[in-house]
Amino acid sequence: MDKIVIEGGASLNGVIPISGAKNAVLPLLAASLLTPEALRLRNVPQLADVRTMAKLLAQHGADVSPLANGEMTITAKDISNLVAPYDLVRTMRASVLVLGPLVARFGQARVSLPGGCAIGTRPIDLHLHALEKMGAEIVLDAGYVEARAPNGLKGADIVFEKVSVGATENILMAAALAKGTTRLRNAAREPEVSDLANCLVKMGAKIDGIGRGTIEIEGVDALHGAEHAVVADRIEAGSFIIAAGLIGGQVTLQNAHVDLLPGVIDVLDQIGISAVQTDAGIEVKRTREALRPHDIHTQPFPGFPTDMQAQMMALLSLADGASMISETIFENRFMHVPELIRMGADIHIDGHTALVRGVKKLKGAEVMATDLRASFSLIIAALAAEGTTQLHRVYHLDRGYEAIEQKLSNVGAKIWREKEKAA
Ligand code: EPZ
Repeated sequence: MDKIVIEGGASLNGVIPISGAKNAVLPLLAASLLTPEALRLRNVPQLADVRTMAKLLAQHGADVSPLANGEMTITAKDISNLVAPYDLVRTMRASVLVLGPLVARFGQARVSLPGGCAIGTRPIDLHLHALEKMGAEIVLDAGYVEARAPNGLKGADIVFEKVSVGATENILMAAALAKGTTRLRNAAREPEVSDLANCLVKMGAKIDGIGRGTIEIEGVDALHGAEHAVVADRIEAGSFIIAAGLIGGQVTLQNAHVDLLPGVIDVLDQIGISAVQTDAGIEVKRTREALRPHDIHTQPFPGFPTDMQAQMMALLSLADGASMISETIFENRFMHVPELIRMGADIHIDGHTALVRGVKKLKGAEVMATDLRASFSLIIAALAAEGTTQLHRVYHLDRGYEAIEQKLSNVGAKIWREKEKAA
């Protein structure tokens, strides 16, 4: 087990390369199951979750090339096993994204229910109800979803009761091979969903309305191989924008695009951090000595993303005034709060809302990562704090951020990884 040690106070100057998006590469990898031909992905980040998804596809029988120079090729020609086992699915919930492709192409699948995670119960009822509307027979058996569609899936008119990224992605992939046309309404519009849809079109899918709340998919008999570059990780970019803006200095984020973060850039501008698109990427600058407080409501895209809530809370902990942060997407996404309080933050939780009263400074402490984005929130706080912070359980961080301490130390942060002493 590793820990990350950070000495606060150093300003950040230089260039940070942004990697391919975790939340795009995972559905893209699942999409390889839709065709017997090779799907070649570029700009693939080196992440624990990517390794888990590769393992899952391989146990289905897909040929998965090793990740080299950001490239990975998956050929799902000889799929011999239609079961996604509990031990893999419970380590990474996105495994449930193999359900749509397997049922659509092979007429059946047995996928472990993912179970909850730290931030919530994370049900998949929207995925299953939509597949039933497309003619699949769904039975829950011993913690597994048994899905059958012996005569194939058929197009359907589906209105999602809630905006769901995963359900939209699963059904997009299923509908691509269904007989007839599927219309999705109240679909998720996250850039990662659009990236998947764009890749499916390259594979021969017929999709209209990409990026909008209503998407129409006309099923085809078969999909073919394709090449696709994974979209840049907007959440990684947003996380570094907050870090650089809070700590000060001049940082450029390479391969990042402000148009992927509409719900964040304008809010940061009002708080006192400017993030401007240039040919080199996103230039970050602090524009106010005293950061202004700001109320935050997490929303589906293009609203303020829930995956940026923890990072924003670290920033607002040092604003000149009080901010209300409402987490409307997940039921338990405030686990970073007690850790920030250990560093001197003044935060009170009341249900889905946290009242953050800005303090003059934070102080380094021993803290614990609890989930992926909370981990980055603590790194932001540690970079700005006085003294040294030790962040434990960094395996949470490694799931979704590639080479984070290298990227930060390359621009002047005092951050390194150490082995945890045996307990
Ligand atoms: C994706 O999770 C992301 N993960 C999450 O990122 C992200 O926070 C989330 O979308 C929202 O943007 C990946 O893309 C791999 P949802 P997903 O289905 O698809 C409820 C990170 O840190 N819901 O959009 O699981 C659900 O409980 C991770 O990178 C149902 O009720 O999220 C939640 O309250 C964390 N029934 C809300 O909808 C369902 O069938 C949104 O969930 C599905 C979801």
